[in-house]
Amino acid sequence: MRVVRRWCVASSFSAEAAERIIVALDGMAPDQALAFNAQVEGLRWVKVGLELFVQAGPDVVAQLRDQGLRVFLDLKFHDIPATMAGACRRAAALGAELITVHACAGSEALQAAQAAAVEGAQRAGQPAPTLLAVTMLTSWEEQRLQRELAIGQGIAERVSALAQLSASAGIGGCVCSPLEAAALRAQHPEPFALVTPGIRPKGAAVGDQARVMGPAEAIAAGASQLVVGRPITCADDPSAAFAGCCQDLKI
Ligand code: C5P
Repeated sequence: MRVVRRWCVASSFSAEAAERIIVALDGMAPDQALAFNAQVEGLRWVKVGLELFVQAGPDVVAQLRDQGLRVFLDLKFHDIPATMAGACRRAAALGAELITVHACAGSEALQAAQAAAVEGAQRAGQPAPTLLAVTMLTSWEEQRLQRELAIGQGIAERVSALAQLSASAGIGGCVCSPLEAAALRAQHPEPFALVTPGIRPKGAAVGDQARVMGPAEAIAAGASQLVVGRPITCADDPSAAFAGCCQDLKI
């Protein structure tokens, strides 16, 4: 990641810290999502997920980009190679700089998606995107994986194998639990991106996240960027909550 040592004057956190925090705009109506930037000083990255995208359509990505924000488009593409390539080409042309794909689509689809995303961004004059592979959804448990999908491999082993498959196919990073970050970072040095949700600053409600880490701990474990949703979006003061996460990183 490019290091920019500027400081957000009013909030006393660095621009580098702000680059590490991606705020998930889950559960917001399109107008709320578009108004969020004005409420949070120093915000750099937002994550547009399936719910907002299905409701607002692709224009929401361009509108967030027009506000100067960087966009993580988390639609978790999983399809045949030609369709994955087409979707990633379009997503990159919209200006999304992080785009998720499922690793279990396989190496041919991953390679096609990566090449198409780079080409789509170039043609549209947009920044080069990084594709992020989703290895295992954290909602899976080992016993259910065996029972329902006849997959006997342990989750840690499978995450590692799918991350390797993705890296070998030229994918630039993975989405992972912060608890998987240290093992994946040992296997995949920077600049391979490790983007971790499941982040809870001290005192924040854990909610439905089963295994969480604080922002600084997750970065120390090897995460390159953190996805934080409700601890910021549902806070009484989202700007203060965002600043708290940035300050916690001490970078
Ligand atoms: O509100 P919260 O901080 O829990 O939001 C985390 C975000 O990261 C949500 O958008 C959620 O869908 C996403 N996510 C996750 N766990 C994963 C993958 C994605 O929480 N394994």
